[in-house]
Amino acid sequence: MHNKSLISINDYSKDECLKVLDLAEKFEKDPVQNLLSGRVISTLFFEPSTRTRLSFESAVSRMGGQVIGFTDSTSSSVTKGESLKDTICTVANYSDLIVMRHPVEGSARYASEVSNVPVVNAGDGANQHPTQTLLDLYSIRKTQGRLDDLNVVMVGDLKYGRTIHSLLMALSEFNVNFFFISPEELKMPNEYKLHLKNKGIDFHEQTDFTGILDDADIIYMTRVQKERFSDPIEYEKTKNAYVLRNNMLENTKETMKVLHPLPRVTEVSTDIDVSKKAYYFTQALNGVYTRQAIISLILGLKQ
Ligand code: CP
Repeated sequence: MHNKSLISINDYSKDECLKVLDLAEKFEKDPVQNLLSGRVISTLFFEPSTRTRLSFESAVSRMGGQVIGFTDSTSSSVTKGESLKDTICTVANYSDLIVMRHPVEGSARYASEVSNVPVVNAGDGANQHPTQTLLDLYSIRKTQGRLDDLNVVMVGDLKYGRTIHSLLMALSEFNVNFFFISPEELKMPNEYKLHLKNKGIDFHEQTDFTGILDDADIIYMTRVQKERFSDPIEYEKTKNAYVLRNNMLENTKETMKVLHPLPRVTEVSTDIDVSKKAYYFTQALNGVYTRQAIISLILGLKQ
């Protein structure tokens, strides 16, 4: 993990993922540690973000490091026509680690190939969001006490949801039953279903909630990813496909948790926020501890 970029969740083995989770647990108990004194982390966000960017920046601040970067590439020389390669090579000179979000799938892998410092993918198009997955695994293990023998229900935009794709790949290393709920137009892409089939993992697909929620251990809700649609009419057709309401959770397991990578639009009713089954805001908090762990492992500050 030391000096290695994190672009896809598959870049980490199951044991390495568990190592991140174990270290994140330690950071949760003791979040202020002066490990990054004199170190600079770049955050390059070519797409909007609240949680990923700010939790990375919070993680760096709690470890005594400095952050440079941009939240809007129009304020950078990209607007003058500078290539991604030139941007990354330049920023690599100024920092010890680059955290990058970009709308183009594969851009983070490309950045890691031209950078002489490690790159962490903070989301590349509809492809992957590995640090979100590690905080999702952390949240699942923390609330359920395990990552095996779970019924995980994934709901919403399974086609474009990068958090879904990364999480599926990670959970396929554990003994998990998958239930996919999405409109026909936003079904889980075949490559991910093929991956599960090749591993002999069962999954069940349907277009509504019927008969699924009461046995769930985790209901992982997602927003329909407006920014990935080329046809706005297609977005309008699916944007309100699902709304999870508190009364729908009445017969669910006491230990069941509703997760959501956030931001939400309408898919999780705000009446769930007061339920002890709502976990999405704590999930976002767990992002700080998890990202502290990821940064310190990549920079070789923890083992
Ligand atoms: N979960 C997530 O990626 O949120 P942001 O888009 O706010 O970073």
